[in-house]
Amino acid sequence: MRLILLGPPGAGKGTQAKMLKDKFQIPQISTGDILRQAVKDNSDMGARVKIIMDAGQLVSDEIVIDLIKERIKQADCEAGFILDGFPRNIAQAEKLSETLIEMNLEIDCVIDLEVNAEEVVNRLTGRSTCAECGAMFHLLSRPPKVPRVCDSCGGGLEQRPDDNRETIRERLKVYMESTAPLKEFYKKQGNFKMVEAKGSVEEIFSDVCGIIDV
Ligand code: AP5
Repeated sequence: MRLILLGPPGAGKGTQAKMLKDKFQIPQISTGDILRQAVKDNSDMGARVKIIMDAGQLVSDEIVIDLIKERIKQADCEAGFILDGFPRNIAQAEKLSETLIEMNLEIDCVIDLEVNAEEVVNRLTGRSTCAECGAMFHLLSRPPKVPRVCDSCGGGLEQRPDDNRETIRERLKVYMESTAPLKEFYKKQGNFKMVEAKGSVEEIFSDVCGIIDV
């Protein structure tokens, strides 16, 4: 099964992708996570993308397309994958289509998680992530048992540098300009489904699973 999760920042793409990964045993491929890891590792690419990510802008298509092309050719993607945060614009979507045609593969479903701007700001300003294992928490909806400590591994929780109000506003603007047009792009391909991503994480997961019909 090959899935794309679309939606604005904070829609819950990462949360749902992790649950789908566990349920279906296929990898979650998050371009945001790969880029953040490059920043943490202080790689050349990490140094190039950090300023762009901290400003809430998209990094160059060339960088992310190369990352994705390489990643989906790996053995663990043979049974499928979940793309989380890619594609982000029409150029990336067209390149993905070309790559999949070359590999004789296709996307089964594009799931668009829809939430409004107010909910986006609430979710992102309250989010924290474990620096060790990547588990995600939210100050109100999913608080850790001990403040700033991960329930799963005991690691320290941190806030993403782009989760401040000013950068969130910029990320939403970039989403509306560059990413939202992908909805029409995939509607035309006939494999597009929209989910109201407003309820609990579990309710949304149940809707998503209902859509992919497995
Ligand atoms: P990326 O990491 O992809 O960030 P994003 O798209 O802005 O999405 P987020 O990760 O912020 O949110 P999410 O939808 O995954 O929500 P989550 O599940 O975490 O990209 C970051 C940056 O990298 C970009 O700005 C860009 O610079 C660069 N980049 C990445 N991909 C790129 C590409 N393809 N091209 C170019 N540049 C790229 O949930 C958020 C919070 O809400 C959490 O606290 C969670 O616990 C909570 N939550 C989740 N669901 C619910 C719910 N149902 N109810 C209540 N709370 C909930």
